[in-house]
Amino acid sequence: MYIFDNNFIIDVLVNRRGFGDKYFDILLYSLDKNMACISINQLNTLRYIIKKEYKDIYEKYLQVEKNFKLIKTPSYVDFDNPLANIDIEDYMIELSAKSIDAKIITSDKKFLKLSKYTIKPDEFYIIENNKSTNIDFANLKKQYFLYQNELEKEIDEVLNSVSYIMGNKVIEFEKNLEKFSGVKYAISCSSGTDALILAMMALDIKPNDEIITTPFTFIATAETIALVGAKPVFVDIDEKSYNIDVDKIEAKITSKTKAIMPVSLYGQPANMDKIQEIADRYNLKVIIDGAQSFGATFNGISDSNLGDISTTSFFPAKPLGCFGDGGAVFTNSEELATKIKQLRVHGQDKRYHHKYIGIGGRMDTIQCAIVDVKLKYYKRDLTLRQEVASKYNNAFGSKALVLQNGGVKAPLPIILPFIDSRATSAFAQYSIRVQNRDDIQAKLKAQGIPTAVHYPMPLHLQECFEYLGYKKGDFPISEMVSSEIMSLPMNPYLSDDEINYICDKICD
Ligand SMILES: Cc1ncc(COP(=O)(O)O)c(C=O)c1O
Repeated sequence: MYIFDNNFIIDVLVNRRGFGDKYFDILLYSLDKNMACISINQLNTLRYIIKKEYKDIYEKYLQVEKNFKLIKTPSYVDFDNPLANIDIEDYMIELSAKSIDAKIITSDKKFLKLSKYTIKPDEFYIIENNKSTNIDFANLKKQYFLYQNELEKEIDEVLNSVSYIMGNKVIEFEKNLEKFSGVKYAISCSSGTDALILAMMALDIKPNDEIITTPFTFIATAETIALVGAKPVFVDIDEKSYNIDVDKIEAKITSKTKAIMPVSLYGQPANMDKIQEIADRYNLKVIIDGAQSFGATFNGISDSNLGDISTTSFFPAKPLGCFGDGGAVFTNSEELATKIKQLRVHGQDKRYHHKYIGIGGRMDTIQCAIVDVKLKYYKRDLTLRQEVASKYNNAFGSKALVLQNGGVKAPLPIILPFIDSRATSAFAQYSIRVQNRDDIQAKLKAQGIPTAVHYPMPLHLQECFEYLGYKKGDFPISEMVSSEIMSLPMNPYLSDDEINYICDKICD
């Protein structure tokens, strides 16, 4: 990010000191890359000077002004700071730069001397050309910058309202979630983990009940089943989608089975046709762990709108994330929705009257306000994520070594994600399978490419589930996939160059 000092902007626009042409490219490049900022307190001075002294370019300036990213001036002023004593306006620009870790481009010698945030215009290309090729895995900072002004406004509103828990903002957010996913009731809650707990409590899952799920998932899926006292019963995964193998579910149904909990892993719903058909036949409930898949569909229907209850997570790195913890529970049943809302506030049906044993499971109002801003742009973000996945597929596909995941095993060196033709994925992760994962991860790390493993150990082998009596070899597909899977950087802002760079380095 770059904050352009007033002198730079005027030099460029009026070709003052003959710097116009030389510096115009810097300005264009920064505007094009969404890196061009001005501190909000510059607006007044800039407008005043230009209107007074360079009247003929005033209109042109106003056009440019709109394209700058406006950065707030923080109120945490240190009046003992030398720059604050010498030039309060420059000091305020420095405060803005500090708040977003930006460089200030200026020709002002005094400012250059007094602030370590300043650079001369000529240093711009040196910095840009020497930028490391470090690729950001989830690029949450870029997303923050994109929506920063709206987020600031919403956060200020919540802070001013002093309505920090529940209130209108929460109701508004839930309505927007309902609209987005087509589901009748969306109930925000404190996390994706608590969403699962609320779902099971609402369905009266009790000790000794069994819930069928996958061992190839994040711990919260099975952990919450155990937390409500029930028993997680694992079923191996399908080798192509990595979701629960629907052909192996029936063999695990007993008289104690109460529900099936599919996970929409990496953002792709499981085979919901088959799961719902089995559930209907055996009179079981379906709870979808959609922590990774908000916005994904099966047969054109959002997976928040499938099953008896569906859940999601707004953990920051999720496709739709807040700035802390958050989650939601979805259902089309009015009765369940009412109960979930009550369970969320300690089982309370009216003030200080507790119908159920519940939990303190509300989502902070400020987090609701934050995700509500992001939700406005989420369709676009989802499309971009899907495009990034296609670009990865194409980039890998152009290399002779690679084949689409068709359930084919080694010696194919790289297996790409498989998306069922009935499904769309939110691409929480873009995960490939490789034989020599440790070596590839080390090689990529050295080239500035972060990777992650989701997940290195299937849940039936976790120490906390020893009591379930599973052993190595019980779920061979999950075990094989967890030893080969590797997630690559995935976010809506990955550039074509970055995607090609990553693929080249993997296939080197
Ligand atoms: C599959 C799955 N289930 C549940 C959760 C729990 O969500 P949270 O972190 O919001 O509690 C996660 C989050 O990582 C997840 O990936």
